[in-house]
Amino acid sequence: MLRYIIRNEVKTSIIFKCICDIINNTLLMLLLKGLGGRSNMEFKNIILEKDGNVALLTINRPKAMNALNSETLKEIDMAIDNIAEDENVYAVILTGAGKAFVAGADITEMKDLNTVEGRKFGVLGNKVFRKLEKLDKPVIAAVNGFALGGGCELSLSCDIRIASSKAKFGQPEVGLGITPGFGGTQRLARVVGVGMAKQLIYTAQIINAEEALRIGLVNKVVEPDKLLEEVKNLANTIAANAPVAVRLCKAAINQGIQCDIDTAVAYEAEVFGECFATEDQKEGMTAFVEKRDKTFKNK
Ligand code: HXC
Repeated sequence: MLRYIIRNEVKTSIIFKCICDIINNTLLMLLLKGLGGRSNMEFKNIILEKDGNVALLTINRPKAMNALNSETLKEIDMAIDNIAEDENVYAVILTGAGKAFVAGADITEMKDLNTVEGRKFGVLGNKVFRKLEKLDKPVIAAVNGFALGGGCELSLSCDIRIASSKAKFGQPEVGLGITPGFGGTQRLARVVGVGMAKQLIYTAQIINAEEALRIGLVNKVVEPDKLLEEVKNLANTIAANAPVAVRLCKAAINQGIQCDIDTAVAYEAEVFGECFATEDQKEGMTAFVEKRDKTFKNK
């Protein structure tokens, strides 16, 4: 009898936990999708803040050098969804808390993976990084420190990289017995050229910010205490332009770079035409002709 009662109590508590989980998940989804997603969401491993038309996403596991475990990747995925749905966000900044930008995928989590699990981890990271790359808002990486392995790959999924003079870049994977797995073999070659990408990946060499600038991996190097200010200014400069036009430029560059030049310029003609269906094109050109300041509406 006692066993029967205990078993029933356990069952009831499992059912209760399931119902609570469903309610929690539903509330999270509503928070994500609802009402323009302006609220600053609560996460365990990242911080998402919004200031005016700029979102600031900080990877926040400083004790582990912001290493990307599955949980952090899933939180980044949710944050990107939130940013995508917020029509008042025109530009995004991605940075790391503490002395690292991101020191790679989480080696502790990867250490004992088998083939299937390893592939699944790579697929998860690639899905999130590709979503970031395809996000229809410009993303600037403010690389404050170590950007190694998955961290370098994360910065490569952003549109623009600005580095602190203390930043360090590299793809050290072959030293751990693995290949880059979050797009490094593909995006690094596209950004710095095939020869330089091969040298960096084969040697696992870590380079400093000045060398990263020299090879075109970053756009600019600034003093550490000026990094966020500099990147926020850049984000606000971008956000002051017509958001739809900026979005279409990102799509045209990202699509065009994968195509032959005829297809690419045909794509550009399409997006150029699309601009003339926007209120902001009328506003931008009318303001120029009338010699007055423009006010864009993201429409
Ligand atoms: C898990 C990490 C980590 C990582 C650092 N830590 N990087 N944990 N995964 N990638 C942890 C350390 O274990 C340590 O934890 C704490 O962060 C502080 O690091 P230290 O090494 O003590 O700091 P420091 O001496 O300053 O050296 C910093 C560092 C070094 C140069 C960044 O930590 C380092 O080399 N990290 C590994 C970099 C790397 O190889 N990245 C590529 C990973 S593979 P404790 O608990 O001891 O304090 C990858 C593949 C991507 O990214 C694709 C996957 C599919």
